[in-house]
Amino acid sequence: MSDRLAGRTAVVTGSAGGLGREFAAALAAAGARVAGFDVASQSGTARRIGAAFLPVTVDVTEPSQVARAMALVAAEAGGPHIVVNNAGVYPPIPFEKTTLDDLRRILRINVEGPFTVTQAALPYLREAGWGRVVSIASGAVFVGPPDLVAYTASKAALIGMTRSLATLLGPENITANVIAPGLTRTETATRSTGADGGFERVAATQRVPRVAEPGDLVSTLLYVCDPGSGFLTGQTLNVDGGAAFL
Ligand SMILES: NC(=O)c1ccc[n+]([C@@H]2O[C@H](COP(=O)([O-])OP(=O)(O)OC[C@H]3O[C@@H](n4cnc5c(N)ncnc54)[C@H](O)[C@@H]3O)[C@@H](O)[C@H]2O)c1
Repeated sequence: MSDRLAGRTAVVTGSAGGLGREFAAALAAAGARVAGFDVASQSGTARRIGAAFLPVTVDVTEPSQVARAMALVAAEAGGPHIVVNNAGVYPPIPFEKTTLDDLRRILRINVEGPFTVTQAALPYLREAGWGRVVSIASGAVFVGPPDLVAYTASKAALIGMTRSLATLLGPENITANVIAPGLTRTETATRSTGADGGFERVAATQRVPRVAEPGDLVSTLLYVCDPGSGFLTGQTLNVDGGAAFL
């Protein structure tokens, strides 16, 4: 427990469970008020965090919904000052069977979502004169899993977007960075990759040969959001147990 983020408000997308719930809880434990944006019920996250959490039902790909949600956060909790673009989908699909509709859906949630949420948050970050934009990509970008071609493309786009945002926002005391997790044990990851021993297979390729848990990503998120990290921007922090060396 610390108060490094006291007085700040964070928006975490995809906070109904998995990594997003863990990130929301960690930011709240560091003293931030946290608003969660998700299409799914966030009752589990609300129970875990308590009064510091504001759940907002919103589809991050819908600009009008996102604008309304951001205004609600500003009115109810102040800010926002921190944006964690975490909502995303990662269905494994063989490349030959990936339709353009599959590709468009993945790009819509994984790229248009962060684009829309960051754009809607920007006036508030600017008004505060301080901001942290953190987007959750994936170690898939460095490893290139064969059944995640569309997904890997979407997460690589997020890295490019972050670099341009870092250039745009650097003079305004707003940083933009990416965290790229390796395969991490969440319910969705278990459904899509864990059932056939995928966790153990991936863990065996890591220098730290154990399965990652959501808590393994928390210290990196807090480091990037810390008030002392204003000189860290445009970077991709690869938190994958050493599966890939950049
Ligand atoms: N778990 C892993 O192994 C892993 C590894 C690397 C990267 N990631 C990335 O981390 C993020 C979280 O993954 P997770 O495993 O916690 O998955 P998850 O399915 O638990 O979380 C994703 C959340 O996003 C929400 N969401 C989806 N579409 C949305 C939309 N249009 N609007 C609002 N909310 C929406 C879902 O309801 C869900 O709660 C994703 O971006 C994923 O690509 C995960």
